[in-house]
This record gives sequence, C-alpha cells and structure tokens, in this order.
Amino acid sequence: MTDPWFRHLSGKFIVFEGPDGSGKTTQFRRFLRAAEASGLTVCEVREPGGTGAGEKIREVLLDHAHKDMTLTCEMLLYMASRAQLIEQKIIPALTRGELVAADRFLPSTLAYQGTAGGMPVRDILDVARVALRGCKPDLIIVFDVDQETAARRLSPLLDRMEAKGAEFHQRVRQGYLDQIAAEPGRYLKIDASRSEELVWTSLLDALKARIGAA
Ligand code: TMP
Repeated sequence: MTDPWFRHLSGKFIVFEGPDGSGKTTQFRRFLRAAEASGLTVCEVREPGGTGAGEKIREVLLDHAHKDMTLTCEMLLYMASRAQLIEQKIIPALTRGELVAADRFLPSTLAYQGTAGGMPVRDILDVARVALRGCKPDLIIVFDVDQETAARRLSPLLDRMEAKGAEFHQRVRQGYLDQIAAEPGRYLKIDASRSEELVWTSLLDALKARIGAA
C-alpha cells in the first residue's frame, strides 16, 4: 500500500506501546511496511534490544533463569539497553531526518517497573534523564486491551516478563492509562481489542487526525 500521507512522518520519532498480547508488534510491522512503501527512510528499533549490546541485555531480561532479578536491576537493564539504542541509532537517525519507529520506549518502564512493579516514577525519571539525553518521542501510540483478551493472544511459552501473572498485567494496563490521562497530547490511545484490520484502520485515522493531513 502506498499512502503519500506517510511523508508527514519524516524526521519524527514515533513509539508503539501496549501490554503483552495487545497486538502492538503486528501493527508496528504493518506501519513499517506502509511507511517504507511510501518512500520514507525508516529507522526501526525495538526495546529491549535493537543493538548488539541491547540484544544481549534482552536475553538476560527475558530469561526464566533470572527469576530472582531485583526490580532495580531490571529497571537499570531496560534503561541501559535504551541508552545504547539512543546514542547508537535513534539520535543519528533523527539527525539524518529519518522516521524513527520504536517498538517500546520509556513508557514501558513507567508501566511495567513503575505502576506494575512498584518503583517510584521519580526514581525511573532520574535514571531516564541520564539515559535519554533529552531524546523525546513526538508521539506515543498505546494499544489498549483488557487483560483477558491480551492473555488469550499470548503464545503458551511465556517469557519471564509475560509470566508475571494477571494482576501484574492488569496494573501494566493501568500504568499506560494513567500516562495517557496525565499527558493526552503526547499519547494516542487505540482500542486494540478488535480485529487486526479494524485496529489498523483506526490507527491510520487517528494518526492522520493527530499529525495532520496535507
Ligand atoms: P516485547 O515482548 O514487546 O518485545 O517486550 C519485552 C518485554 O519487556 C515485555 O514483557 C515488556 C517488558 N518491558 C519492561 O518491562 N520494561 C521496559 O522498559 C521495556 C522496554 C519492556
């Protein structure tokens, strides 16, 4: 699909967020294909990961062998992966005027380690100030879905984070909803409980309404 509207996203930093099982990554892939088909140069990144060091950190974070990992260690590892990604990929791509599309960013840490895990937001933001180097997304898209629907969509082979249980994941969802309520201008909430096709159409409509069409 070629949609010339995507050119409005040139030089922007867009983040895809949502609880596990929200369908975020499926929509992220469609978004990348559509943006590239319209001729945009896209820098695609994912968290944790997206760099050599970051992918190693991802393995540690999602491995069941580290069930005893402390919340502080977990938060710092997510932030370490992010710091590497920002310096190595995100800032250079934005400097070149590319569209940067990220599968997760700081809002994940605020929802998972903050609201769900219990770490004070102030502590997360203190570390983020060092890791982010002033790098701020232009828009954060949150794929919102109830916990039961999200759980049904997950593969039975859960990773360490997915295996944290229904109550934890309910709090993750609440964490995103709280962030949206606090800063509605920076977030776009999409109802992700519907079919892939309907979610995609509503994503495009909402994006065009927010970023503006030619
Ligand atoms: P993914 O499954 O979307 O690739 O994300 C990996 C897992 O890591 C997912 O369960 C969400 C979790 N996560 C955090 O807990 N904190 C973070 O800061 C990030 C980026 C991800």
